[in-house]
Amino acid sequence: MEFNIAVLGGDGIGPEVTAEAVNVLGAVERSFGHTFNLHYGDVGGISIDKHGTPLLEEVRDLAGSSDAVLFGAVGGPKWDDPTASMRPEDGLLELRAQLGVFANIRPVRIYDNLVESSVLKPEVLDGVDMVVVRELTGGLYYGEPKGRTETPDGWTSVDTMYYTEAEIERILRVGFALAQGRRKKLASIDKANVLECSRLWRQVATRLGPEYPDVELEHVLVDACAMQLVQRPARFDVIVAENTFGDILTDEAAVLAASMGLLPSASLADVPVPGRRTQGFYEPIHGTAPDIAGQGIANPVGSILSAALMLRYSLGLTEEAAAIERAVEDALAGGLATPDVATESSQRVSTVEMGRRIAAAVNPESGKEG
Ligand code: IPM
Ligand code: MG
Repeated sequence: MEFNIAVLGGDGIGPEVTAEAVNVLGAVERSFGHTFNLHYGDVGGISIDKHGTPLLEEVRDLAGSSDAVLFGAVGGPKWDDPTASMRPEDGLLELRAQLGVFANIRPVRIYDNLVESSVLKPEVLDGVDMVVVRELTGGLYYGEPKGRTETPDGWTSVDTMYYTEAEIERILRVGFALAQGRRKKLASIDKANVLECSRLWRQVATRLGPEYPDVELEHVLVDACAMQLVQRPARFDVIVAENTFGDILTDEAAVLAASMGLLPSASLADVPVPGRRTQGFYEPIHGTAPDIAGQGIANPVGSILSAALMLRYSLGLTEEAAAIERAVEDALAGGLATPDVATESSQRVSTVEMGRRIAAAVNPESGKEG
């Protein structure tokens, strides 16, 4: 089959890790006889530098007209001036909003071989396997009013957490649906003891509960959730949270997996149904890591696993997605490790070598050096 994929690498390590995901997609093409037409575009800081805007209209249109978007990361110290009129991140937020990808799915699993790379004790990590569903197109990121005003007493600033009942309901339904396909536990995260948005959230979750009688629903306050994530992480199956809470909790959950560099994400505009294709946006959860950009040591696994999610959710290529995931498992089980997860016993590899070895596990012809 033939597909159109927009490839937006962005800044910092974004292009480096995305290039390895693209190599692995090449291995899938050769092994399974598909054609992936890749359409490259600038986004973020590089786009500000080259075009004076974090997102050109043509790149926005490219993303909108593709079967899926493979995204790297945006941002960096160069564009971090708090008074700047435009930011690299604006390009990402505009893309998410434009594509309507409200459901950000972030699976967190532990690879046996990397348990000793984690800062947490092995017994705490035992049995950890969860999915965080983060609301992605609402809340503080998009709510109005937003901005700064100068007053006689100095500057004031405002961000608005705003949610409609419909926005809350559709993201909770993604959480319930994913839980049904897993261990049937859903933790709905809120701060209902303080925030009005959270009280509406909890009310909607409680109303939907009976529609999913096989799913055990619990409400967990976000601060308690942050604590339990490192104290008893194995208790969680599916976690569903609003935008900002989900952003923060997934960085914390990444610590369980030993490195931010390992975690993929899928952002969808619909409840995922196995076998049904839906346009999506795929990015590793990590950022641009300016401190290691250009050194060839970034971990490409989060990006490669994001490509696997893309095959599964947007292209309907289930078997191919599983082949990538198996290849990643084999590479890690075989002791290959980029510096972020390497221990004394691992075989240290570069970004490119890691990508090459995973591609080779998908398709032996792809592993040739050259
Ligand atoms: C993420 C990132 C982004 C976010 C930034 C880069 C805008 O932290 O994808 O988790 O906050 O959504
Ligand atoms: Mg984040």
